[in-house]
Amino acid sequence: MTTTGLRVLIPEERIQARIRELGAEIARDYPEGPIFLVAILKGACFFLADLARAIDRPVRIDFIGISSYGCAKSSSGEVKLTKDLDSSIEGADVLIVEDIIDTGVTLNYLLHVLEQRNPRSLRVAALLDKPSRRIRPVDAAYVGFEIPDQFVVGYGLDYAEQYRNLRDICVLEETG
Ligand code: IMP
Ligand code: MG
Repeated sequence: MTTTGLRVLIPEERIQARIRELGAEIARDYPEGPIFLVAILKGACFFLADLARAIDRPVRIDFIGISSYGCAKSSSGEVKLTKDLDSSIEGADVLIVEDIIDTGVTLNYLLHVLEQRNPRSLRVAALLDKPSRRIRPVDAAYVGFEIPDQFVVGYGLDYAEQYRNLRDICVLEETG
């Protein structure tokens, strides 16, 4: 029988400190006008809430739903839009807010979809990046932390819909 254990990889204080840095950097980088934050459901909601408050500028927020994983720990390679944005992004400075870039399949797909809607600019802010797992290219302008190839949960990230409400980012380890 196997049991699972949690090991803290990035504690709450480090997450929050890094998000304050990212928010300041984003606020400096963008031209006049609101920044249109588009969060990918559901994992990025926690990051969106903290990042939006770290950007000392007008922002708009919206949500998009994409499924690529189901309940498995590895990508099915299949991506579909499960919920579209509520509003148009034409002419807007769009910043996609994502919890983690793993294979890159999700963001590579979403970037293509949103590019066709003619935003003024389109960039990615990802809290975590696992570059060693990439199979599709993704150019993220803002990355919180690069992490090794380990399955993580907490701060929005789930395993089979569990653990999203942990304050720290933890590695989910199988023991025994
Ligand atoms: P990608 O399409 O492979 O880049 O996967 C991106 C999505 O997979 C993320 O939005 C997460 O929902 C999920 N994912 C990837 N790695 C992890 C992980 O370590 N923990 C939890 N979810 C993950
Ligand atoms: Mg997920």
